[in-house]
Amino acid sequence: MFRSFDSSCSWQAGASADPYRSSDPHEKKQESEPPLQKTYKTLFEKQHKTEHDTVVEECELPLIDLDQLNTGRRERDKCVRAMAKASSEWGFFQVVNHGISTDLLNRMSGEQAKVFGQPFEKKVKEKLLDFSSETYRWGAPSATNLQQLSWSEAFHIPLANCSDPSHPDKSTLRRTINEYAAAVSDLAQQLAQLLTESLGFRTSYFAQNCGPSSCYLRLNRYPPCPLSSEVFGLISHTDSDFLTILHQDQVGGLQLKKDGKWITVKPNQKALIVNIGDLFQAWSNDAYKSVEHRVIANKIVERFSVAFFLCPSYDTVIETCRRPAMYKKFTFGEFRQQVQEDVRRTGHKIGLPRFLV
Ligand code: OGA
Ligand code: NI
Repeated sequence: MFRSFDSSCSWQAGASADPYRSSDPHEKKQESEPPLQKTYKTLFEKQHKTEHDTVVEECELPLIDLDQLNTGRRERDKCVRAMAKASSEWGFFQVVNHGISTDLLNRMSGEQAKVFGQPFEKKVKEKLLDFSSETYRWGAPSATNLQQLSWSEAFHIPLANCSDPSHPDKSTLRRTINEYAAAVSDLAQQLAQLLTESLGFRTSYFAQNCGPSSCYLRLNRYPPCPLSSEVFGLISHTDSDFLTILHQDQVGGLQLKKDGKWITVKPNQKALIVNIGDLFQAWSNDAYKSVEHRVIANKIVERFSVAFFLCPSYDTVIETCRRPAMYKKFTFGEFRQQVQEDVRRTGHKIGLPRFLV
């Protein structure tokens, strides 16, 4: 499934309420849950006991200490080299001393829990702040088998209309989103800059084309999943952006593919996770890798994560920085359109291979 800032992805958006749900007031907590099990009942019945891949090893992602950027030339170069190495070998790394305060991360998590804790009906029917009503997504309406279903709900927030300083809405949710987006967007710009520098380029490309208004923030929640051996919290995908910065809680469940094997990422509360998206892989002519990843939902506890997607405007041209170019020149708009078309036609994202020379 294509699951990035895109209406082509197979999310259930604005669907009608669950007709079976109990109105028992004691089931307060249940009121906020999207009716995943009931909605996809037939898929579970049709396809029993296809267990996920066997035991998956737990690993720590390459750890980059961003303090090293400020402790002299040699340390800085070493830090940038380590980041570039991880981007080419893993497509993922984690950063500590990233400059985003624990207080801000905690406030963002608090707002996130509140927003998901609203009654399901409200999440489906009402706009979040003044974003479109398509912002809330859950499950996967077009899933015809369990492999296409994600056991999760999300608010997918275009930052374009979020940061308007003259906006009258003084809600703590908006303020927190703005504050978080501003901080994480600065970090993403800095990391993109360092990664291009490591390829031998000094460019204002990211600053010019990936301003906060073309980026997205996604609040993810993975409800406890009694059937977690049969369905993924989030099915395998690559991100369609330049770079993603993910803040996850301590529950764990994120997995990535390395050398053909799935690996579980060990949570680190001090770190933010960074991963390379399709556009950076194309821009870097495959020096950096956009790696497949997925989430296993926990059987007992809910899991939260926040993802920031560093995206350009739709008319931005993505052209490889080296010759011979592996990919044709394309705009982000063309890329998105092709992905949407492929998802519609084949049920899944094809992505970068479509744009090979
Ligand atoms: C995503 C994603 C992983 C997670 O939102 O694209 O890969 O841990 N999320 O929630
Ligand atoms: Ni992702």
